[in-house]
Amino acid sequence: MTGAGVSAESGIPTFRGTDGLWKNYSVQDLATPHAFKRDPGLVWDWYRWRQNIILKAQPNPAHYAIVELERMFERFLLLTQNVDNLHYRAGSRKVLEIHGNIFRVRCSECGKENPFTCIDESIHELPRCDCGGLLRPDVVWFGEAIPSRVWAESLDYLNTAQVAVFCGTSGVVWPAAAIPGLAKELRIRTIEINLEPTPFSRTVDVSIMTRAGETLPRIVNALSAAE
Ligand code: OAD
Repeated sequence: MTGAGVSAESGIPTFRGTDGLWKNYSVQDLATPHAFKRDPGLVWDWYRWRQNIILKAQPNPAHYAIVELERMFERFLLLTQNVDNLHYRAGSRKVLEIHGNIFRVRCSECGKENPFTCIDESIHELPRCDCGGLLRPDVVWFGEAIPSRVWAESLDYLNTAQVAVFCGTSGVVWPAAAIPGLAKELRIRTIEINLEPTPFSRTVDVSIMTRAGETLPRIVNALSAAE
């Protein structure tokens, strides 16, 4: 399972920590259904700004190492909280995006998914669905549930997993934050890679406090040497 820390080395800001997005921007104004109802233009401006940062970024060694892990293990699933599409751009294919994807949109009225074309910051007209409803980023906002299919699939996978790796996530956003505890209950071997301690650092089997872009490639190299 990955979080924003995996994309940090690509230059994409994380959410928490000293320079985290939630230090400078308000969740209540930007990342809730109520915020979108109140001021969809402001919400779109923020998402377009983030889209532009992400479009200029490139996947980093952590993303590529995860692609290698997918190739090495027949049964593999990448559960990501990241909405930036960088795992996919790096080559990962067995991915479940539990918080959605910032480059997809869906109608806030009828729910229909739409291909997204306007990311130009100068566009003032808000994007709309054929039904007339406002289009919104297809991400999970605070106060919204993770799509039930995605969550059910995550739990199914966890039930048969042997090893779970938690990389670059602060582990404070639910329900994703429940997964390390569930893995422990299921007696799955657990490994954490993070720059700093998290709520589950004490309970995982192995906690590695280093950069994801350094550690994941080393794990891949060690596994390749052992093959
Ligand atoms: P956070 O910003 O909460 O946490 C990022 C974690 O990555 C922190 O624990 C950092 O210590 C760690 N980190 C930073 N750089 C790292 C590096 N180079 N290598 C390893 N670890 C590093 O991000 P998330 O846990 O992903 O929700 O946040 C969870 C959710 O909260 C996000 O998906 C987003 C946010 O609100 C939605 O968008 C719905």
